Amino acid sequence: MTEACVYLVGAGPGDPGLLTVRALELIQSADTVVYDRLISNEILQRIPSGVAKIFVGKASGNHSMPQAEINALLVSLARRERRIVRLKGGDPFVFGRGGEEAEYLARHGVAFETVPGVTAATACAAYAGIPLTHRGLASSVHFVAGHCRDNQPLDLHSDALADPHCTLVVFMGLANLDRIVASALQAGRSPETPVAIIESGTTPQQRYVRCELASLSVQAEANGIRAPALLIIGEVVSMADVLGAQVPAAADPPMSVERYA
Ligand SMILES: C[S@@+](CC[C@H](N)C(=O)[O-])C[C@H]1O[C@@H](n2cnc3c(N)ncnc32)[C@H](O)[C@@H]1O
Repeated sequence: MTEACVYLVGAGPGDPGLLTVRALELIQSADTVVYDRLISNEILQRIPSGVAKIFVGKASGNHSMPQAEINALLVSLARRERRIVRLKGGDPFVFGRGGEEAEYLARHGVAFETVPGVTAATACAAYAGIPLTHRGLASSVHFVAGHCRDNQPLDLHSDALADPHCTLVVFMGLANLDRIVASALQAGRSPETPVAIIESGTTPQQRYVRCELASLSVQAEANGIRAPALLIIGEVVSMADVLGAQVPAAADPPMSVERYA
């Protein structure tokens, strides 16, 4: 039998049209697909019925299978199967713990291959009509996790928070909006900085709210924004006025777009 391989595959943020050709080939030829909670039904439907599917339900702060067990599962599958796909939301190496899984596989002598995916950062921004960099508005982008790991304080102290020419993209920040806003204001960001919070970006359920930094928590709560949600802070958010939002494929009903001062 050929050597087993675990493919760490990025599935993108939800729209099946954002799966890479390589990702699609792999999920259609795998023995087993091990997948997370953020993998959309539209993508799961593309896995042939003969391929075994194992749900490991990983979502921020709510791991239905602990990471150590996921790692061990991948190694044990590799002992008896040839093509194992570890399907992860977005890109496996952007806040996806793909690096940890790859490291574990390497330590256990299991061959692996990483297949990058479209991260929610770029995809949600694009569908909302927001270029993450734009001449004159932003010359850099900072991806940051907005959750508190193991009850540690939020670690957002960075020059990027203060730099008005740096777009901040905050993953997993919904539960900590107050603290994120306070940190950004404290670092010197203007309270009028435009922000967008995008829920279920690129899927038919996509919704987003745009407002100013100072009113973010109130507006997110008033609009009932739910996870998964991505936060974009920076002057580039105002470009959505010019570029307009993009309706995700097969959107039914149409995406609702709200804008607040
Ligand atoms: C564990 S991180 C995984 C990120 C992923 N590896 C990526 O590259 O997009 C999960 C967070 O990504 C963001 N996210 C993922 N998919 C999203 C989507 N469709 N819409 C909005 N945010 C999303 C949310 O902030 C969510 O809490």
